[in-house]
Amino acid sequence: MKTPYYQYDLQLLRQTLDAATREANKYGYTLHYAVKANANPVILNEISSYGLGADCVSGNEISAALSGGFNPKGIVFAGVGKTDEEIELAIARGIYCIHCESVQELMTIQKIASAMQTTANVALRVNPNVDAHTHKHITTGTMANKFGLTVEEARRIIKNFDRYSNLNLFGLHFHIGSQITEMNVFEELAQRVNELQHDFYANGEPAYLNLGGGLGINYQNPDSELIPPFMNYFDVFARNLNRNSWQSIHFELGRSLVGQCGKLVTRVLYTKKMGSKNFAIVDAGMNALIRPALYGAYHRIVNTSTSSSKMERYEVVGPLCESTDILGTNVLMPVTQRNDVLEVLSCGAYAEAMSSRINLRDIPDYCFTNQLQEKTITKTGAPLQG
Ligand code: LLP
Repeated sequence: MKTPYYQYDLQLLRQTLDAATREANKYGYTLHYAVKANANPVILNEISSYGLGADCVSGNEISAALSGGFNPKGIVFAGVGKTDEEIELAIARGIYCIHCESVQELMTIQKIASAMQTTANVALRVNPNVDAHTHKHITTGTMANKFGLTVEEARRIIKNFDRYSNLNLFGLHFHIGSQITEMNVFEELAQRVNELQHDFYANGEPAYLNLGGGLGINYQNPDSELIPPFMNYFDVFARNLNRNSWQSIHFELGRSLVGQCGKLVTRVLYTKKMGSKNFAIVDAGMNALIRPALYGAYHRIVNTSTSSSKMERYEVVGPLCESTDILGTNVLMPVTQRNDVLEVLSCGAYAEAMSSRINLRDIPDYCFTNQLQEKTITKTGAPLQG
């Protein structure tokens, strides 16, 4: 198969889904898959077959989730900038709940639901002002971010909700950030949710609480932790969240479900030395994986073509006309040559989903392998090898 391409391990995806659903089921938690992490149709089909709901942030994601087999009754819809058309689509498709992020949006949903002579289910996305201790570009739950309603706005809306005659208020939604690896951050979130639901609902807590996603994965050493620590994660909420038996508790996991099952396979086009640096120029760049360029994110890179014991440090860079087109810096690899194949690990989440056609590059192809060798699925039907 022609490089570059994304290669997904179906067996690992299934093992991850088994682990996540097993741990969530212990507490009766409901899981939604955050489609933004990877909307590959094969992945959507696989995840929907486990009975998860979907968390969408655009009309197109709602359509992709429906085509991927997700039940509309399990779809939630967030995002600070929903267009009228997207709100209409969400209502017309009968999704479970719209996560509302501003007062104007709430008024718009009310107006649209009224014009459609129906009622829409909403939850309020509240910005809890909890610092996720993650990269500043993927922090969402502090006052420095654009997401959600302030605590004061939410309190006022709930008090006067009667005026929204075409809306059902299910409850509250929170999401404080992504790639969170410190469990005490989730503990803090749970405690903040306890305070807020108590503050907002004088006459009994809401039926619906959605705690968002954000569980991180191990990028440094993926093989040591292919399946994220779902047990610890859900356990933190079970121990810290005050929950009534009639409340349904929801999570929206993206990265932790799909991050480790994908890699980006790329070929070395050229090597060259500039000053003290060795460059390995490969055929995939920020068009295929933008995370290093955008966030300075680290992905492990391994050379699978050589077993040379002589090691060198490389700048692994893509072919694009951008100085930030870097996949890895200071990467220790065996001496690398033209045509060697490199694997960039932990690319199941936010790689294919954030790919672009910059410099008119093609979006890389993909394939699915299954260690049980049931079958190999490729987008074009091309064989994996060759
Ligand atoms: N729910 C909401 C409302 C979200 O905004 C997100 C992610 C999730 C759930 C899923 O979060 P996860 O479980 O995947 O952490 N492109 C960045 C990540 C952006 C995340 C945006 N929101 C990256 O490559 O690291």
